[in-house]
Amino acid sequence: MTIRKILVTAALPYANGPIHIGHLVEYIQTDIWVRFQRLRGNRCIYICADDTHGTAITIRARKEGRPEEELIAQVQAEHERDFAGFQVSFDNYGSTNSPENRELCHEIWEAIDKAGLVKTKNVDQLYDTVANTFLADRFVRGTCPHCGATNQPGDNCSACGATYSPIELLNPISILSDSQPEIRSAPHLFIELAQLREFLVEYTQKGEHLQKEIANYLKGHFLGDENSAEGAKPLKDWDVSRPAPYFGFEIPGHPGHYWYVWFDAPIGYIASTKQWCDRNGERLEDWWKNPDVEIHHFLGKDITYFHTLFWPGMLKTAGFSLPHKIHIHGFLTVNGAKMSKSTGTFVKAETFLKHLDPAALRYFYASKLTPRVDDLDLSVEEFINKFNADLVGKVVNLASRTAKFVQETGLSASYPDDGGLFAHAAAAGKEIAQAYEDCDFARATRLICEIADRANPFVDSEQPWTLKKDPAQAQRLQDVCTISLNLFRQLAIYLAPILPDLAERAGRLLNDPLISWDQSQTPLVGTPVAKFEHMLKRIEVKDFENMIEESAREATEAALESEGTPDRAGEGTAVAFQDSAEALQNEPLAEECTIEDFTKVDLRVARIVKAEHVPEAKKLLRLTVSLGGDNTRTVFAGIKAAYDPEALVGRLVIVVANLKPRAMKFGLSEGMVCAAGGGGAEVFLLSPDSGAVPGQRVL
Ligand code: 2FM
Ligand code: ZN
Repeated sequence: MTIRKILVTAALPYANGPIHIGHLVEYIQTDIWVRFQRLRGNRCIYICADDTHGTAITIRARKEGRPEEELIAQVQAEHERDFAGFQVSFDNYGSTNSPENRELCHEIWEAIDKAGLVKTKNVDQLYDTVANTFLADRFVRGTCPHCGATNQPGDNCSACGATYSPIELLNPISILSDSQPEIRSAPHLFIELAQLREFLVEYTQKGEHLQKEIANYLKGHFLGDENSAEGAKPLKDWDVSRPAPYFGFEIPGHPGHYWYVWFDAPIGYIASTKQWCDRNGERLEDWWKNPDVEIHHFLGKDITYFHTLFWPGMLKTAGFSLPHKIHIHGFLTVNGAKMSKSTGTFVKAETFLKHLDPAALRYFYASKLTPRVDDLDLSVEEFINKFNADLVGKVVNLASRTAKFVQETGLSASYPDDGGLFAHAAAAGKEIAQAYEDCDFARATRLICEIADRANPFVDSEQPWTLKKDPAQAQRLQDVCTISLNLFRQLAIYLAPILPDLAERAGRLLNDPLISWDQSQTPLVGTPVAKFEHMLKRIEVKDFENMIEESAREATEAALESEGTPDRAGEGTAVAFQDSAEALQNEPLAEECTIEDFTKVDLRVARIVKAEHVPEAKKLLRLTVSLGGDNTRTVFAGIKAAYDPEALVGRLVIVVANLKPRAMKFGLSEGMVCAAGGGGAEVFLLSPDSGAVPGQRVL
């Protein structure tokens, strides 16, 4: 079999925030594919880096009163720590703010310029006359021209999602000086993508570089069809420069102009490879200019355009290899909803690791990932059940129920008759390998579970624990355990790309490190068996709930911190305090009351211990809240449109605890949970700061 040479990348995460479980879909997906390739004996390197340039980094660095370089160094260390915690096995983790990247940007830019693709056009931009500078999109805030939401950035509205140019913002304010900017014209550099049209149509529409749905999306939205009535669509020029201030690389020959972050970010793939090459005595051109190397990019659907049009265009023009395949995945939802900071489902990698085994996330994502671009949902119940039932219950069980009986004897000298179980599982290896190769990890895990489902009844019927009691059955006991442990070993090999730790423990147990897929084809005999060590621990619902609770708490604390901390650099105060007067206007203040009036209302901290839909009610959820000890009560709350019941369990809320119980159609409501907002999906539950406990009075 020929050994393939494969270079794999995952998208470079921005250096302005932490890694969360949404990011991890991609890094884990890619890692599984990479580990599979290595296990098959292919030469496969996994390259990544932090994406460090652009305005978001500058804004955060200014807020924190430190240079961008210091911020990106700290974030990179945190990213690397988090990835290591999830066993993501990068061969090199670089930074786009590296000398290698600068040099490669120069080289690629020169080629693009030489090819006649660069042109200059004047762009109307906001200019801060106090700070004497043009303002990049995120240095300005104002009112959305589409929906009227206030305090929106200059490129897109967080309330209605519309994209626009900063000059369209109403009442714009510069976050550098709090002054009102004016519109001035400045030259920007553009790459004329239309010149690459023929190549881009060929690259995206022919061959297998893209998933079918992606190729069709590009055709429908950007390329058009030359043969159809509508004909080809014009490809827009790409604005690749930004005037100062901009954290990035200055464009040679254009002082005061910087490459837009999306120009230098993908070049970071090559720059990070260069670092790996330099460390390993390899030549960059043997990886990026060699038709024998397969280049595979993994990325999310939101950045399709950059990777399928701009990036191949840049590579082609500069004489680098084109990606062999661009694998695009969907987004993560949690309990059917977008990840949300306030409900605690926006879980940081670091927080996850404090509560749960990373193997659980790796396995769960694997069981959901297919070669398609569909979004994937993490439902708590499914997450816990898959790990406990499949891995602990079916796979590890094969070893935990038998290893101790052969600890003294080791495995049988020859492989016993197992009724064809091993041979069947070995034969399935081909189909499982194909599923991994196709990025159909959901199918791979299904096939693996089917093998486990055949293996367990064998142990159940042979009952090694009964055989152990009869000395005359010593040989049979050793044979049964040899079979069970070999089936376990096969499963551990097939699962190794997903669960590297489990494979390592299985290798230690049987004194035979699992390093190759081929080991699944031949049974292991005559080796000593080590003492059984813990392999995987069942997940408890409580662990998950604690994680969600901690995430919600972190989000609240972070929000308070960013609102309450004065801006250290003295800039950007306009961003934090531009609250609209609308809410107060819509609901004017109530009549004055005395403190005695107020204290008649007994507000208490309570924990939601159960949250259920009320099938007959359109707006209500039935909550069981605990005031501590055995003191629970039922409360019906009109929050169905805003909250998913599972995401509420474990959360602390504030309840009106002495409200007269009210008989409702669905049962007795014994209190009320406090919330802000106008109703429907716009409901925001109140939570106490961390440290509060159920039963405490709120005054
Ligand atoms: O969308 C993002 O998070 C970008 N930082 C991805 C960059 S990928 C590559 F092009 F560098
Ligand atoms: Zn808007």
